[in-house]
Amino acid sequence: MAAITDISACRADFPVFEDKLAYLDTAASAQKPLIVIDKMRDVMSHHYANIHRGLYKLSQVATQEYEAVRGKVAEFINAAENEVVFTRNTTEAINLVAASWGSTNLKAGDEIILTAMEHHANIVPWQLLQERVGFSIKVVPVLKDGTLDFEAFQNLLSDKTKLLAVTHASNTLGTVNPVSRMVKTAKAFKADIRILVDASQSVVHGGVDVKELGCDFLAFTGHKLYGPTGVGVLWARAELLEAMPPYQGGGDMIESVSFKGTTYKSGPSKFEAGTPAIVEVIGLGAAIDYVRTAGQANIAAHEKQLLDYMAGALGRVDGLRFYGTAQEKVGIVSFTADWASNADIAMVLDQSGVCVRVGHHCCMPLMESFGIEGTVRASIGLYSNQNDIDSLVKALKKAKDMLS
Ligand SMILES: Cc1ncc(COP(=O)(O)O)c(C=O)c1O
Repeated sequence: MAAITDISACRADFPVFEDKLAYLDTAASAQKPLIVIDKMRDVMSHHYANIHRGLYKLSQVATQEYEAVRGKVAEFINAAENEVVFTRNTTEAINLVAASWGSTNLKAGDEIILTAMEHHANIVPWQLLQERVGFSIKVVPVLKDGTLDFEAFQNLLSDKTKLLAVTHASNTLGTVNPVSRMVKTAKAFKADIRILVDASQSVVHGGVDVKELGCDFLAFTGHKLYGPTGVGVLWARAELLEAMPPYQGGGDMIESVSFKGTTYKSGPSKFEAGTPAIVEVIGLGAAIDYVRTAGQANIAAHEKQLLDYMAGALGRVDGLRFYGTAQEKVGIVSFTADWASNADIAMVLDQSGVCVRVGHHCCMPLMESFGIEGTVRASIGLYSNQNDIDSLVKALKKAKDMLS
């Protein structure tokens, strides 16, 4: 694929925009470029077979295509290929770490640290394990501007801390957390604290580098990265993966099975029981190619410029209150209005062809800390443009006229 020089031309790669639509819900799930759709259609039409098992060419080609994506993901996040596990999504990746690493490494009396801005996917798996094991969960509070209280984080570190699980970028506030600084601080305090990074939002807006972050586990989901649903990634340091017991049992993850005892494969295969999402993994590979061709720095620069434009334009609409005004942000703006409910606003916006998300955004503890039930959230992607923002502002003014 030739490098994309003008990011604004990317919009034409997304068939959904043939209909006039201001899609401002990319933080929930991104639209798909034709190249991903075509790739998946091509695999299903001409190259499809189950993988890892068939001795015939069709199966071997499908296996090669599937395994090649592991290499692509590894390169994309600056990791090694034997450290990339395919999961269904971020949620499954974090559940895998909690069930496998957590159940063998956490015990009663231990402490883990989460933050108040975590998505439920990085809270509930730990609570489920906590019910069985009995460790405590400490929570880093969020300041008024939507940044983490770093001093409070430092004070939460203790000799009992075993894990820090933190989102790289908030799906509600947009805040980009100082993850490498947190990793350095935690590891300097106690070298064996493990760090899990939820990169669901950061990987799409400029990319991540696991070596630079210095973390131990990292999770992201394919559907926010312009890829299909049903596929996600868990990256873990090779030595951790080797020591972790399997998460699920079944075909493809075993070396040999007998009623006297079963042995497992090593590396990522141990965690990929059953027939995986073959077509979706290959689709994710096409999405990664697409993003790399667009250029992660280009995407970040485009979205930053558009975020500034959106913040400025929304700032001129009367009666809005904003949540998350940090300096370092991805393209997400959350707000409430003093003249109508979030749901009523979303209804009027929808009538104008503007798609936004309203609610708690799977961050109920964060909503609680701001004393609200939910927000209206507008979020952008590489295909978003100023017309989308202008449509949002126009529809909001119409909503205000109708509802206040
Ligand atoms: C920060 C963050 N973490 C986790 C998730 C969960 O992703 P998935 O539903 O694909 O597992 C999301 C999705 O909204 C998210 O934004």
